[in-house]
Amino acid sequence: MKVTLRLVAAIWISALLVIAGFAFLQVREERERLVGDLERRALLLGEGLREAIQPVVARGSTAGVERILKRFAKPTRGIAVYDRFAVLMVATPDLAPVLPPSLPEVTEAISQNEVSRGFRLLNARQTYVYATPLARDERPVGALAVVLDASHLDEAEWALWQAHALRFLVLALVVSLIALVVVRTSVTQPMAKMSEWTRALRTGRQVAPPAIPDANLFGPLASEVAHLARSMQRAQAAAEEEAALRLAGESVWTEERLKQFVNARLQGRSLVVVSNREPVFHVRVGGRIQTQTPASGLVTAMDPVMRACGGVWVAHGSGDADRETADAQGRLGVPVDDPRYTLRRVWLTKEEEQGYYYGFANEGLWPLCHIVHTRPVFRPDDWTYYAEVNRTFAETVVDEIRDAEAPLVLLQDYHFALLPALVKTARPDARVAIFWHIPWPNPEAFGICPWQRELLLGMLGADLIGFHTQYYCNNFLETVDRTLETRIDWEHFAVSRGEHATYVKPFPISVAPAFVDDPPDLSREALLRGLGISAEFLGVGVERVDYTKGLPERFRALRWFFERYPEYRERLVFVQLGAPSRSTIKRYQELQAEVEQTVREVNQALQTRSWRPILYLDHHHEHRDIWAYYRHADFCMVTSLHDGMNLVAKEFVSVRDDEDGVLVLSRFAGASYELRDALIVNPYDLAETAEAIRAAVEMPKEERQARMARMRHIVREHNIYRWAGLLLSELSRIPVEATAVKAS
Ligand code: F6P
Repeated sequence: MKVTLRLVAAIWISALLVIAGFAFLQVREERERLVGDLERRALLLGEGLREAIQPVVARGSTAGVERILKRFAKPTRGIAVYDRFAVLMVATPDLAPVLPPSLPEVTEAISQNEVSRGFRLLNARQTYVYATPLARDERPVGALAVVLDASHLDEAEWALWQAHALRFLVLALVVSLIALVVVRTSVTQPMAKMSEWTRALRTGRQVAPPAIPDANLFGPLASEVAHLARSMQRAQAAAEEEAALRLAGESVWTEERLKQFVNARLQGRSLVVVSNREPVFHVRVGGRIQTQTPASGLVTAMDPVMRACGGVWVAHGSGDADRETADAQGRLGVPVDDPRYTLRRVWLTKEEEQGYYYGFANEGLWPLCHIVHTRPVFRPDDWTYYAEVNRTFAETVVDEIRDAEAPLVLLQDYHFALLPALVKTARPDARVAIFWHIPWPNPEAFGICPWQRELLLGMLGADLIGFHTQYYCNNFLETVDRTLETRIDWEHFAVSRGEHATYVKPFPISVAPAFVDDPPDLSREALLRGLGISAEFLGVGVERVDYTKGLPERFRALRWFFERYPEYRERLVFVQLGAPSRSTIKRYQELQAEVEQTVREVNQALQTRSWRPILYLDHHHEHRDIWAYYRHADFCMVTSLHDGMNLVAKEFVSVRDDEDGVLVLSRFAGASYELRDALIVNPYDLAETAEAIRAAVEMPKEERQARMARMRHIVREHNIYRWAGLLLSELSRIPVEATAVKAS
């Protein structure tokens, strides 16, 4: 039976049972009321008459009885008088013809000498008979019967049943109709849409999932189907990509290739990645929990690797709703809607975060490694917290690899310089690498750090240390050479201390070929309309608000450009997306104020009634939102004063599948070594940067496309899967000693 039929049948049966029950009770009540009414009337009449008739009957005067009855006769009530043998003496005219020879109530009243009552069918009509004995000296001399019409009792009952039957019909019809509409809109139609969707997916069409009206009912199913669909699409896309690459004879690294490589090379060994920043964080916005992707090059790079390889990513849980969205061990699957690896969150106290992250890492090491004229601050307390947090992370890593044989541990960045030695000491069989995402300065610059020995010894616990460029590797090796007693093999770029060797190699980091899986369907016109601007030329900058990024310099160069080339006023708008970063640090607060002030000054100096040269959007943007800016900009500016790699440059290139757009790129960003077709500038040189902007907007289309095609080729070839593949391959090749590493 169809579900709808079953539902309708169930509704009808339930309505029938409920209404029949209520009707039965009501009919019973009504009957009791009517019978009571009859009884009262019969009693009043009977007892009233008895007084008058009793002496007349005792005298045996039939004529006397007839006279009395004439006065009381009415069509709705009959009265009959019987002698002591229950033989009828006199009855009112309407009653007399229908009376039977004897009435049981009368016989009983005389024999028992008490009132008797009951219902009786007289002439096919229901009547109520009330018989009361007539007595003299307490001995019965006859009886008086009052007969009332009781046919209205059945009629009233029948009318009630009819009314309830009608009610039942109306109720059952209305409820069935509503149920059918609800089933149709909430179940049948969504199910039909979902089957249409799954059919489309099965046949390989890329169709967005239908809007599901009831998330509670269909949410779990829809998300399971969505997972399945995504896995199918990924598998299909990977297979198509692999086939296309094979046909073209290319050996580009893809997600699939990295997956195969990891399976073959790691043979089921665990992979644990550690970074300070987590790939997703959860925050409360207006009482609801939101999942956000941090503005972090590290995350952009490592997330696709983890999606391909699986494993565990250990990171600081810094979102205000992070605890609620993880289990008791701080674990959750990522991506949240289609988990492919595990995020293990580490909880830090406010003091630890302040000392380790804001203090030592970002007021000490960050300015130490970036040569941008911001003086590093080294506080002993911050150092203590830094060391303590490194130990906390080491414990977590050791816990994660407790049952794993010869695991691979990939540590990230300057937050964890002490971690390699700590992990290696606990697990000498683990292969440990640390990748330093920021520049490594020359030995003199690094030498001002009071704890440079400890930092270097911590890092040298690793089997492999990675930097973006050979230049940073050389700086590191020279720093080690000047600071510690070690043997440096300059031919193989390895440092040996006792039995342990650490290899130091460049691995220029990159991005995944697809910046986002599902780019928004947003035209340039719609993007500009949404921003409330109109512009012939659109420039874009995407940064964390950090003093290494050269934001004030960029805005001053824009001013220079507009002053030098006024014909571009009212034709070009520069949109700066600035994600707030490390905002509790004074230097970052000063920078934020400086950036706002510079934007204000440039706008005030140049703006007209309908145009402002710079639009500064200082809030967090998700990758899908950033995609539209990259895709529709005429040029993108990366003017870092010093930058390890800078992935914004590569993200911009990876998004430009239209092979258009110009990249203005600082020569002090690691990316400038690879992206030689960008317009390379010295960001401190305002005139040169302004000229690059002019060159970008005036560049002929063919040249733009040729440059972009070459850059895209490089980013496509040197993608993040290749980075991870080479790094893991190098790491897995290094023989590991079974003895513990000395951390001091
Ligand atoms: O660029 C260096 C770096 O640590 C990246 O690795 C990271 O993406 C970025 O800075 C973000 O910084 P934070 O995590 O402090 O917001």
